[in-house]
Amino acid sequence: MNIVILAAGQGTRMRSALPKVLHPIAGKPLVQHVLDTARTLNPTKVCVVYGHGGEAVPEKIGRENIAWAKQEPQLGTGHAVMQAIPHLDKDGVTMILYGDVPLTKTSTLQPMVQSANAGKFALLTVELDDPTGYGRVTRNEHNKVTGIVEHKDANEAQKHIHEINTGIMCVPTQKLSGWLSKLQNNNSQKEYYLTDILKMAVDEGIAVETFNPADEWETNGVNSKTQLVELERILQETYAEALLEQGVTLMDPWRIDIRGELKCGRDVSIDINCVFEGKVSLADNVRIGANCVLKNVMVAAGANIEPFSHIEDAVIGADCRVGPYARIRPGTVLAEKAHVGNFVEIKKSTLGVGSKANHLSYIGDATIGNNVNIGAGTITCNYDGVNKFQTIIEDDVFIGSDTQLVAPVTVRRGATLGAGTTLTHEAPPDTLTISRTKQVSLSSWKRPVKKIK
Ligand code: UD1
Ligand code: CA
Repeated sequence: MNIVILAAGQGTRMRSALPKVLHPIAGKPLVQHVLDTARTLNPTKVCVVYGHGGEAVPEKIGRENIAWAKQEPQLGTGHAVMQAIPHLDKDGVTMILYGDVPLTKTSTLQPMVQSANAGKFALLTVELDDPTGYGRVTRNEHNKVTGIVEHKDANEAQKHIHEINTGIMCVPTQKLSGWLSKLQNNNSQKEYYLTDILKMAVDEGIAVETFNPADEWETNGVNSKTQLVELERILQETYAEALLEQGVTLMDPWRIDIRGELKCGRDVSIDINCVFEGKVSLADNVRIGANCVLKNVMVAAGANIEPFSHIEDAVIGADCRVGPYARIRPGTVLAEKAHVGNFVEIKKSTLGVGSKANHLSYIGDATIGNNVNIGAGTITCNYDGVNKFQTIIEDDVFIGSDTQLVAPVTVRRGATLGAGTTLTHEAPPDTLTISRTKQVSLSSWKRPVKKIK
């Protein structure tokens, strides 16, 4: 089976430099949603017809397993499908989808494939309260489909038809090539209308079978930012429903955004306004506080992410406590029961079992052992302006507040660093290391007083 995806249209009403089909919903380009659905039908060939936006579209989506057919100029939907024909398997059936209609379900398309395999013309239609602008499906007195008439070409009576052509169809491929070669553009828009092939099929005595989507939004296209956000909300609603169904507690299903893949274990709870990007997995009993952003994160069982935390490309161990207001950057691994508190930034570092950095710290390029306490205001000075250097802190270390660890530097097992230390050499094990100027009190000193003029 072939699948052709039309994606050459301009999308002027998006008012954007980005080609329309590359605009994302749920963090993924519109046309990628269509491609992902197409793959579920196991096609042998997938051809995307592109044009506007030029090579930006194939470049962003990738060329693997996709035939890209350029349509230039764009002379209509029929002309668009013609560009795909040389890339298709000659036998079998061809499904036509649209790069700007992202939410059609496999369960809606699958029966259409069967219908076309049985030699029929399968057409997806929908009844709209307001059919303005769409091609109308005309039927005879026996309720048999006779054709599709575009809004601009329709007479008054036809304009009152509410059943519209979604554009999605599945037909025998050999027939399709034959019909396309006979298309004319003698209509109000001087375009080669794909829809005209329906009349040809009817004239040949081919049975037309119409299908309807379970939900009307499955066939909604995107022409503007308003329609884009409408589909975004619909998709987010379906994601939230699926999570609730699965037993996840959402404090408000209208205030969660999933831009990728979110996997949840049992008894997970998610407070409001959280954003999940890329691949995120939350194991059993994980709690996510309000206003957190997690991107490509694995959170192990029982961990508690407090509000306003931002975590990216990281692994959070079991029973960890992170935040509020923590920033965990790429390459961070927290072992179980680690605590990371407010205004702590961690990058490319590991924090061992039960270790704590509870307040106001920067930890970068560090390997920190188990049961370490990092005092408030501790900074790893990991960067000399050119190169990055490692800090190693072994097990059971206590680091006093406001310490600077000038990397590369190592703190040996059981060491204690006094508050305010600037560590430039290795700190020996089980010893207090301190670098601080001696405290003095000057009894002779007087506060300056204001001179009277
Ligand atoms: C088309 C249908 C109409 C249907 C409507 C559903 C035709 C002639 N009409 O109308 O019956 O109700 O869709 O939305 O098919 N495209 C190309 N190349 C082109 C022209 C279009 O790739 O030369 C792509 C567009 O990017 C778009 C899709 O085809 O994704 C539909 O094109 P559009 O111009 O929106 O068709 P309509 O006039 O709305
Ligand atoms: Ca359209």
